Amino acid sequence: MSRRRQIYEGKAKILYEGPEPGTLIQYFKDDATAFNAQKKGTIQGKGVINNRISEYVFTRLNHIGVPNHFIRRLNMREQLVRQVEIIPIEVVVRNVAAGSISKRLGIAEGEPLPHTLLEYYYKDDALGDPLIAEEHIACFGWASNEEMQDISALAIRVNDFLCGMFSAINIRLIDFKLEFGRIWDGDYSRVILADEISPDGCRLWDMTTGEKLDKDRFRRDLGGEEEAYQEVARRLGVLQDDPGPSEVFDLNAHRGKLRNSKTSK
Ligand SMILES: Nc1ncnc2c1ncn2[C@@H]1O[C@H](COP(=O)(O)OP(=O)(O)OP(=O)(O)O)[C@@H](O)[C@H]1O
Ligand SMILES: [Mg+2]
Repeated sequence: MSRRRQIYEGKAKILYEGPEPGTLIQYFKDDATAFNAQKKGTIQGKGVINNRISEYVFTRLNHIGVPNHFIRRLNMREQLVRQVEIIPIEVVVRNVAAGSISKRLGIAEGEPLPHTLLEYYYKDDALGDPLIAEEHIACFGWASNEEMQDISALAIRVNDFLCGMFSAINIRLIDFKLEFGRIWDGDYSRVILADEISPDGCRLWDMTTGEKLDKDRFRRDLGGEEEAYQEVARRLGVLQDDPGPSEVFDLNAHRGKLRNSKTSK
């Protein structure tokens, strides 16, 4: 069905060769997985919403000088990005205890951390993305010390920006995951932010009610995941304009919902 060469199919996205060398197309699926893909399902319309949210966040990060892979959105489910050499580390930024840190260290969910915490996980599905120390990163050469300095500084800047952005729409940013990659220019490389920022990889709690507006609704069988993702997009104001002519099928599938979410409230 696709006109392009598929490069990789992950759990949430498909990567296609881009129109120019050094570019890729990221296609956002509705597939959802949790607990290292032991739990699988779909969140209707998630791909469309995550494509928009990630576009919005990466564009704003670009404006404040956080280098990232986003070039432009192509249609409802696809965006053009710069191809990077992914650094095999998932960077988790935590403001408030939740999820694995609560389990591992016995800290109650919702307990604010004394200060923002950066954690690193080795990106390896077969190993279940284990938690690692910076010493492992240096020891195995997954990233240089200079790259880790850039990565940690960028992660903190992204956190500062996102905390403000979400608090303006009455959402508390509990934690989130980032991926970085290298761009080569001859013998030199620099680190930029890649992948996506969306409710798939963030914990977002409504500031007033504490309601979860992220993938924990799916992980914990809370229900209402479609509505939660839509609510985040609606508060960010990213589902306002027309999605464009492509993907008529998706347009028809989602138009009712999108219109309802605009008019309700
Ligand atoms: N700009 C980019 N250039 C190259 N690869 C990228 C870029 N941005 C993201 N990726 C990679 O594309 C894939 C996106 O697919 P998806 O998020 O579905 O993967 P995943 O199932 O989470 O698997 P993984 O464990 O590899 O992240 C990820 O492997 C991610 O690291
Ligand atoms: Mg992923």
